Amino acid sequence: MALEKIVFKGIDIPGRTEISVYEDGGGYAQWKRVLSEKIEPNELIETVKASGLRGRGGAGFPTGLKWSFVPADSPKPKYMLCNADESEPGTFKDREILEKDPHQLLEGVLLGSYAIGANTAYIYLRGEFVKGWKMVERAIAEAREAGYIGKNVLGSGFDIEVWTHRGAGAYICGEETAMINSLEGKRGEPRLKPPFPAVEGFYKCPTIVNNVETLAAVPKIVENGPEWYGQWGTEKSKGTKLWSVCGHVARPGVYEVPLGYPAQKFFEEDLGGCWNGNKLKAVIPGGSSVFAMTPDEFFACNLDYESIAEHGSMLGSGGMIIFDETACLVEASTVIAHFYAHESCGQCTPCREGCGWVLRMFRDIEAGQPQPGAKDVLLDVMDQIFGATICPLGDSIVMPIKSMMEKFPEEFEYYIREGKSMVTGKTRLAQLAQPDKPENWRRGEPFDYPREQDYKTSFKGLAHDLSRGPEPLFTKFEDE
Ligand SMILES: Cc1cc2nc3c(=O)[nH]c(=O)nc-3n(C[C@H](O)[C@H](O)[C@H](O)COP(=O)(O)O)c2cc1C
Ligand code: SF4
Repeated sequence: MALEKIVFKGIDIPGRTEISVYEDGGGYAQWKRVLSEKIEPNELIETVKASGLRGRGGAGFPTGLKWSFVPADSPKPKYMLCNADESEPGTFKDREILEKDPHQLLEGVLLGSYAIGANTAYIYLRGEFVKGWKMVERAIAEAREAGYIGKNVLGSGFDIEVWTHRGAGAYICGEETAMINSLEGKRGEPRLKPPFPAVEGFYKCPTIVNNVETLAAVPKIVENGPEWYGQWGTEKSKGTKLWSVCGHVARPGVYEVPLGYPAQKFFEEDLGGCWNGNKLKAVIPGGSSVFAMTPDEFFACNLDYESIAEHGSMLGSGGMIIFDETACLVEASTVIAHFYAHESCGQCTPCREGCGWVLRMFRDIEAGQPQPGAKDVLLDVMDQIFGATICPLGDSIVMPIKSMMEKFPEEFEYYIREGKSMVTGKTRLAQLAQPDKPENWRRGEPFDYPREQDYKTSFKGLAHDLSRGPEPLFTKFEDE
């Protein structure tokens, strides 16, 4: 079958962020049809269920099934929360939709709200997404002006309000229950589940949290039907998926391909292989929180939930990080450990203490002063974090680092034994002390990255940090 874009279909149309252009392309037709034909909310749920759409935020939970968990007869108000927090290193796909096609997302939010009986929807955006937030705000204002949002929408008797909320820079607020706490004005700390948000979420009311990419697919599914959507993908992984690709790759960017697309074809034909014709060393396919894959594992798999799992990793959010032969995986592990240690909310002891412990051990290794038995101690600490925490952030430091240690043991053993990187022949300290680095690079303790570096690591993915390319060290952020 022909390769077709679904979520990104209109993204390159000039002026697409304006409501008139979106409407010219068939935009809001489904919203109008659902309201004018008074389609039963349950019919929408069944359509999305039958399409096989799975959540694109990381867990891959079936979307229609999740919607069906909202108790329709509950007297409490119901809420739709769109998760636009996107802060995981390597993941930068939702940002494209927010900035370039906000109306398609908004139509998905409206249809989803109608399906679950929510009269209020929130779009929770990562605070640094200034442009995306402005685009979504403008889209909401235009849709309100056009009568698609508000009281008694288009005379249907259905009321819906949509609000944006901007986070304050915490990755953990992308976890759905931390997001709900944050929206309620509390600390962004995950809650124990159950109860699940569909039953008891925002202000203890039934709440659905869905990712941007998930909701942006809904208008097309409602327009064309579940069979149409299901013609792409595999039996259990239907439709298309956005992949944000970064690292040592010839053509980084955001790609939409059908689920089940062969990974080797994607890497060689679409991405053009590694940059500079270098050799591939490893791939983290689903954002920094999942297991690293060797080239053999990666090339043997197809890009869908089941096949990636069969070959040793997870699809996650679709944030693909490519490491070529010049990447030192010990140093990559330090960057990853730094991110999770910094972002731990601190509620659970294994995550709060363990992430910092892992980071300190990697810093010692990189300084050429490893603790005795460093490799075994690291593995032991990570085993004590894994599965022992309230939310999966604790697991997220373990999966990439432990898999790299197990799949590339010689790199870690060499660094610990020789006190320098097997790849670069230097310690990280020696590399950081290069004269071309800004003076405040080593402010504080030797490996304490400057604050700006924190943002860059989560903002742009690991690519720049690992590549040590020619870009300026500090990323300047857009002014509001
Ligand atoms: C630490 C952590 C961070 C997360 N960050 C995001 C995020 O930025 N965006 C997102 O959509 N889901 C994120 N998730 C997953 C959400 O908890 C949730 O599963 C998702 O938003 C549900 O939407 P979906 O069913 O459409 O995928 C995160 C999960 C964890 C544990
Ligand atoms: S695992 Fe970490 S981030 Fe998640 S709740 Fe526990 S301490 Fe917080």
